Amino acid sequence: MNHYIRKLISEHEHGLVQLGFLDDATKRMIERGFSEEDFSMIKKSVEFISKEIREHNEAEESNLFPLLEKHLPQNGPTYVMRAEHRILWGRMDLLMNSVNLVESDKNNMANFSKLRTNALDIINLLSGHINKENTILFPLAERVLNESELKSLADLA
Ligand SMILES: [Fe+2]
Ligand SMILES: [Fe+2]
Repeated sequence: MNHYIRKLISEHEHGLVQLGFLDDATKRMIERGFSEEDFSMIKKSVEFISKEIREHNEAEESNLFPLLEKHLPQNGPTYVMRAEHRILWGRMDLLMNSVNLVESDKNNMANFSKLRTNALDIINLLSGHINKENTILFPLAERVLNESELKSLADLA
C-alpha cells in the first residue's frame, strides 16, 4: 500500500479511538451524572477531532484529492468527501457549544443530553466518512493514480 495512504488510514484509526472515548464518556454522563474524569475525556477527544482530524482533512484536500480529481468527475467521490468535511465542521461547532454549556452548568441534565446527541451526530458522521475513505476512496486512489502521482504522495509520508 502507498505510504501516504497508509498514514491517512492510521490517522483514521486514532480518530476512531477518540470517537470511542467520546461515545463512552458521554454515555456515562447520561447514566451517572457529571464527573470530572468523563468530562476531561470528552474535552480531550473533542480537541483531538478539532485539531488532528481537521488537519488530516485539510491534508486530504490539498494533497490527495487534487490528484484524484485529475482522473475523476468533478462531482465525483472527492466532491462528496469535501462536502462531508464541511458538514463535519459545522456539526463540530454544535458539539463544542454543548461542551461549553455543560462546563457552565454541571448539574443540568438537559445539557448532558444535548451533548450526547451532538456527540452521537459526530460519531456517526465521522465514522461513516472514515469508512467510505478506507473502503472506497483509498482503494480507488491506488487504482487510478499513476506511478508518479503515487510516488509524489509517498514522498509526503
Ligand atoms: Fe476525509
Ligand atoms: Fe480521512
